[in-house]
Amino acid sequence: MEHIAIYPGSFDPVTNGHLDLIHRGLKIFDRIIVAILKNPKKQFLFSLDERMEMLRVSLNGSPLVEIDSFDGLLVDYAAQRGASAVLRGLRALSDFEYEFQMALMNRRLNREIQTVFLMTGMRWIYTSSSIIKEAAQFGGDVKGMVPAGVNERLIAKFSRPVDRRCAWTVSGWIFGNFRCSAGWWRPKVFPRRQHSSTSPSRPSAAMSRTLKPISDVG
Ligand code: PNS
Repeated sequence: MEHIAIYPGSFDPVTNGHLDLIHRGLKIFDRIIVAILKNPKKQFLFSLDERMEMLRVSLNGSPLVEIDSFDGLLVDYAAQRGASAVLRGLRALSDFEYEFQMALMNRRLNREIQTVFLMTGMRWIYTSSSIIKEAAQFGGDVKGMVPAGVNERLIAKFSRPVDRRCAWTVSGWIFGNFRCSAGWWRPKVFPRRQHSSTSPSRPSAAMSRTLKPISDVG
């Protein structure tokens, strides 16, 4: 009998930690189905197609790993695919409560499907898709934490909007401070700020008369 495990998740994007878990999972199971949850309520950085494509490329067409997507209950999908187990990775203690809750709920829903946890490899213990995205968003180097193709996509995703924003800022500054006249861009000449008699920074003549210099004050 073939032992199939479902490795479910968001994979937004796939990390080297995920790949490590898949490779180690293949030492236990004959086949692994990596299943991405279609969740219209959640906002993802990458579309479902992009996430599936990144997984496919990263796994280099391994015949023992299938990439798929699902909606609805995980245990229903697992049963439908003939899988006997759900594979999940555990990093730090912080993962435990959520994973424990999910495993118990899945067990309640279908007692034939077992959840198998593998400890994440030491190298990946502090990495997650979310923290990697956050670092990449602000220009952090995440090379070595994600497959090379994913790194390129992260750079492309985050560099475009920043460049556009930068271009708008520069052009806004040019249009705000320069004007085009007779084919030349010349600095705009702003009128000098006049202090009005009502300006709080300068006392009016009437007020000055009533104010005494500090040294005169009793
Ligand atoms: O990578 P993630 O976001 O931690 O994966 C969560 C996932 C997809 C495994 C989980 O949300 C899931 O299995 N959803 C399917 C709906 C379901 O079966 N819910 C009941 C068990 S909690």
